[in-house]
Amino acid sequence: MHIESSVGLRPYNTFGLPAVAHTLVRIASDADVRSVVDHPTLGTAPKFVLGGGSNIILTRDMPQVVLKIEVMGLRLVEARADAWIVEAGAGESWHALVMWTLAQGYPGLENLALIPGTVGASPVQNIGAYGVELQDRFESLDVVDLRTGLMSTLNTQRCAFGYRDSVFKQSLAERVVITRVRFRLPRPWQPVLGYLELERKLAELQASDAHAQPSAQQIAHWVIAIRRAKLPDPACIGNAGSFFKNPVVTPEQCRDIIGRDPEIVHYPMPDGSVKLAAGWMIDACGWKGKTVGQAGVYEKQALVLVNRGEAIGSEVMTLAGAIQESVYGRFGIRLETEPVIV
Ligand code: EPU
Repeated sequence: MHIESSVGLRPYNTFGLPAVAHTLVRIASDADVRSVVDHPTLGTAPKFVLGGGSNIILTRDMPQVVLKIEVMGLRLVEARADAWIVEAGAGESWHALVMWTLAQGYPGLENLALIPGTVGASPVQNIGAYGVELQDRFESLDVVDLRTGLMSTLNTQRCAFGYRDSVFKQSLAERVVITRVRFRLPRPWQPVLGYLELERKLAELQASDAHAQPSAQQIAHWVIAIRRAKLPDPACIGNAGSFFKNPVVTPEQCRDIIGRDPEIVHYPMPDGSVKLAAGWMIDACGWKGKTVGQAGVYEKQALVLVNRGEAIGSEVMTLAGAIQESVYGRFGIRLETEPVIV
């Protein structure tokens, strides 16, 4: 096991925020986790699990032992009549997994193309886009317990997935390391094209041939194009994707808001509640393109905060707080942050 000291984390978080990890250990296997657990000083020290760093906001240096997850490997576990079961190491890039499954002929993850981050982080916030959430394609995952060093396998129920939420953001936070994730990709494949922007792409395709049907690869390319058009590429502009969750309100609250703001974008949920588009509300409050210090609101999507160059975590949080206040003032809704604030 190689223990690194005083490691700058700027390259390891997609927002590009400066912070220093007192101690960092790279984890390439379950055995590496056990070595940390058995280590005389690291074993009992608090830990922070770092994946691709695409869903964290670093506001301070890190006294915890940072475990940087680098478990690799992609394989087909089983070709069942009703599904392909695919397994990926937690350190694999999420997008690389999506493209690998498509190239191998195991479709099902195409709507989730180009989401930044690693495979191991994907269940933590139950990533979702364009009508598909990770939990819809999930089979099971392996974790190693940070107190005992024991490995166990968790199914969907144990993961307690919610909207951008799971047991790993709640009771198991900093208690386990996810090492491998398995996906269930249903056969026969069925495209998910209900999202407005995908419906538009389908209409374009069918304008010349009314019976044309897109392949999974085609849908992945549509999703990539849609994301590139309105979400900043973290390789060029630091960001952590959506900064706030879309709030879910009661039908009464929604009617009240619609009474005052008839234009508000909202989606009825299966359980009768209503999801409001936080990006629309932030935009309506005039935040698009605004900047505090070096932290800004992305010009093309108000739900995304960006690094204008040398932002520090406190500037990002000041901007986020000001946005929350103005949305509360106008709509009476408290926006919850989506990335993990460290
Ligand atoms: N809108 C505006 N102004 C804005 C931003 C959005 O009017 O500045 C409107 C849009 O026109 C649209 C609605 O708000 O009518 C919703 O916007 P969009 O379709 O871009 O989706 P979103 O609700 O802002 C969510 C996810 C994204 C995911 C997309 C597509 C959350 C917090 N965000 O964004 O996920 O890619 O839907 O499914 O649920 C992420 O979690 O990091 C992320 C990028």
